[in-house]
Amino acid sequence: MFSRELKRLRDWFIKNAAELPWRPSDVCDFRDPYAVWISETMLQQTQVSTVKDYFTRWMKRFPNVKTLAAAEEEEVFKYWQGLGYYSRARNILKTARIVTENCAGVMPATRKELEALPGIGAYTAGAILSLAYHKPEAILDGNLVRVFSRLYLLDFLPMDSRDSNETYWNYAREVSDHPKGFLHNEALMELGRTTCKVKSPECENCPLRSECKAHAEGLTPSFPPSKKHLQKDWHGTVLVIESADNKILTVHGGQKFFNNQFALPHYESPRNATVGVPAEMACYGITESAELVEDCGSFKHSITVHKMDCQVLYIKLAGPSCEPHIKNKMEIRWIEKASATEALANSFSLKALKLAKVIP
Ligand code: ADE
Repeated sequence: MFSRELKRLRDWFIKNAAELPWRPSDVCDFRDPYAVWISETMLQQTQVSTVKDYFTRWMKRFPNVKTLAAAEEEEVFKYWQGLGYYSRARNILKTARIVTENCAGVMPATRKELEALPGIGAYTAGAILSLAYHKPEAILDGNLVRVFSRLYLLDFLPMDSRDSNETYWNYAREVSDHPKGFLHNEALMELGRTTCKVKSPECENCPLRSECKAHAEGLTPSFPPSKKHLQKDWHGTVLVIESADNKILTVHGGQKFFNNQFALPHYESPRNATVGVPAEMACYGITESAELVEDCGSFKHSITVHKMDCQVLYIKLAGPSCEPHIKNKMEIRWIEKASATEALANSFSLKALKLAKVIP
């Protein structure tokens, strides 16, 4: 991009930057690297409108690396609950503890050190170095990919091949290698989010319109190519099993999803399967007979590339729960119905419990 376009981009951003809880009122100010790390990690895969409240609550409870490092994992999960991708929360805590132990709670200021930390990849490291420390470091997220794809008419995605990935990163390095690179990086993210949108791009408001090859060819909405081919559909059943003493069965490990935390039992099943006591009950070591089996309807859920359609079955057992134990490599634990919301820190399980009317 020429310096004239970059200047236009900066001016556009300074004038149009939205007010966001992690953004100082003067977008040219240095920022707290901890706040950049947390907000940018939350913003991966989650929309700005959702992240705003999560970020504000998080920063009130964990205002710096040291406070976070001292927290219990369970509490950290509670503040993450609903954002999905729980490995991100677990990694954030691990990294906070490492940074507290090894760097006196100060986020490192080199790419090498940052990328060595759990959960910090090329994007997050670039964001911390550039947005907080104003170093001329590149970032590449979905917004920048869309903008570059359109500006330069790139009909491939970074994940297509190593060369494709390098092409996009080279464009990203080019715009960030500048004393005001931090502004270019954030301006491009903002441009992608608000103007150079996936659907209905607003080219008439774009400061890079005259540079944009897709715009010149009238092809903006067709770029970048879609990644629909990566999507995987999953249809399955989620079981809400309640014992006679009002406890709910939860499982840790050994299942398709949620292998690092307790979740409701679930398994792949055909659409329109007949409702009855599923054979899978035996996998969890349940020998009690069912008093009631109810089809509670279904909910949709996404985990990484999996688009899930989840049928919920509520099963009331005639007999009581039992002590925690391991069965078929799964840790089985019955939890009090009254504490289900606190005990299950994932929105997948909570959606099922709601449909089964176990929680309001
Ligand atoms: N998306 C992710 N991070 C962002 C940021 N800092 N500004 C605008 N959009 C973003």
